[in-house]
Formats: sequence, structure tokens, C-alpha cells
Amino acid sequence: MEIFYEIEPLKKRLAALRRQGKKIGFVATMGALHKGHASLVEISNRENDITAVSVFVNPTQFNNKEDLEKYPRTLDADVKLLEEYEADILFAPSVDEMYPEEDTRQFEIGPVAEVMEGKFRPGHFNGVCQVVSKLFNIMAPDHAYFGQKDYQQIAVLKAMVNKYMPEMKGKIVSCPIKRADDGLALSSRNQHLSEEQRASALIISKTLFGAKEMSDKGATQKEITDYIKKQIASDANLCLEYVEIADKDTLQPIPGDKPANAVICITVYDGKTRLIDNILL
Ligand code: PAJ
Repeated sequence: MEIFYEIEPLKKRLAALRRQGKKIGFVATMGALHKGHASLVEISNRENDITAVSVFVNPTQFNNKEDLEKYPRTLDADVKLLEEYEADILFAPSVDEMYPEEDTRQFEIGPVAEVMEGKFRPGHFNGVCQVVSKLFNIMAPDHAYFGQKDYQQIAVLKAMVNKYMPEMKGKIVSCPIKRADDGLALSSRNQHLSEEQRASALIISKTLFGAKEMSDKGATQKEITDYIKKQIASDANLCLEYVEIADKDTLQPIPGDKPANAVICITVYDGKTRLIDNILL
């Protein structure tokens, strides 16, 4: 695997590969890589000649300083995992390399960015759009792979591309959530959990699976959200930030009793660790 810390040499290398007719797949990450990230690398490898991965803990998307400082940084282990999964290129820039000056761009994304994570983490999606638009400009990939683990992020990035980067339209590929055998969605943040908190976290995915079953059997939106709230409240380690049943494309509330074309998105604090998960109905 070739490793780049600077933009210009990386761009030159990618341009040379493109001249050879190679298709480039791109996976953006903040490192602390796990099998969820690896699943994106595997999909990219199947669909492209070259897979380029970025590892960059983007400061502009953290609205909480402590969260940014606490975010795990494990570049040596990340390199190992990426070599094992046969990524071709790693881009691991410094903050100064990515932001030689402050990025003051304000992305107007609209309603899809204003609910859920947009509401509870003000500025978060603007930071995501800042870094991903820069990364797309650097990589100019044929395809870019994102996980449904961050369901709303994909919807926001598709809207960002439609409005601001038409050359990237249709190139964002949405990939399934990778879960541990017991159902917990893999996340870099899981490593902050104690054994007891890890056991509590399991309630989140179990509850979502239960909610889907209810929906399949015809339950109303209210019955489903009441069930979810009750399950999360049953564990002393867990504190629900929000649960929303939303249209799977617009992420807006669904009119009527029953959910249709819906996704359930949930955010729960497990101790101090903020965990997100979702399920399509
Ligand atoms: P990060 O949380 O590192 O996630 C990088 C990519 O891996 C995202 O597309 C995310 O959805 C995907 N991913 C994480 N856990 C996953 C899982 N269990 N199954 C499938 N995919 C999973 O998301 C970010 O970083 C940042 O916001 C980023 C897009 C890199 C911009 O800074």
C-alpha cells in the first residue's frame, strides 16, 4: 500500500493511475478502523481497480471539543488493517495540510440536514460537507463508498453533491451496516465501552430488530416509538437522545399512522459514549 501525507504527490499519483485507465474507488474514514470500514474497502475493491482510503479526524465536524480530543487515533493499526484488506492507497493528512486556512464555507443543504443529527449536533454536517468536498476534489474518484451506519450522512452528502459538486452525481455508493455477531453495529466508539456498557449497547440493535418485526406485523408509528423508548429506558446505562421514524429518502416525518418507505434512526448515550444506529423498514 502506498501512503501519502500530502495532497500534491497524491494527486499526481492518482492522475497517473487515471491515465492508465484505472478506476478509482474512495473510502473516507476518521481511522480507528474496524470491520465496518473494511467492508467498504472490500466493496470498493470489487468495483474498482484501485481503492484509496483517507484517514483524517476532521476537527470541523466535531461540535464538542472533548469528543474530538477523545476520538481514538490508531494509525499503525489502521495501516495494518488496510494492508490486510488490500487497499492500494492511504491518504493520512495533517490538519494543516487539509486546512491551511480556516474553512468558512457554509453549505446550504436543506431539510435533510436539519433533522436528527443536524438538530442535535449543530455544525456537524457542515463540517462533514467541508471535509468530504475537499476529499472528493483531491481524489476525483469514480465511486465513493459510505456506510448506512451513518444513514443521514449519506443523504446529506448526496444532497451536497447534487447542489455543489455535480461532477460527483451518482458516484456515492451506499453500503450495508456491518454488525458484530450479536447485532451491535460496529463503531470506532465501541472501544470506549466497558464490558457492562457493551452489554447494554446490545439492547439498541435488539430493539431495532424488534421494531422492524412490529412494523412488519402492521404496528403504528406511535406503537413502535413507544416500544423503543420503553426498551431503552429499561437499562440504567442507556439514555435516549432521539428516536425518529422518517422517510428513507427525505428523512422527514411520515404522515399517517403506519410507517411506509421508512427508516428508524436512533441515538443513545451509553454512559458517556454516544452511539447511533438505524434500520430500514
Ligand atoms: P467514520 O465514522 O470513520 O466512518 C467512515 C465510513 O465508514 C462512513 O461511511 C461510515 O458510515 C462507515 N462505517 C462506520 N461503521 C460502519 C459499519 N458498522 N458498517 C458499515 N459502514 C460503517 O463517517 C465518518 O467517518 C466521517 O464523517 C467522514 C465521512 C470520514 C468525514 O470525516
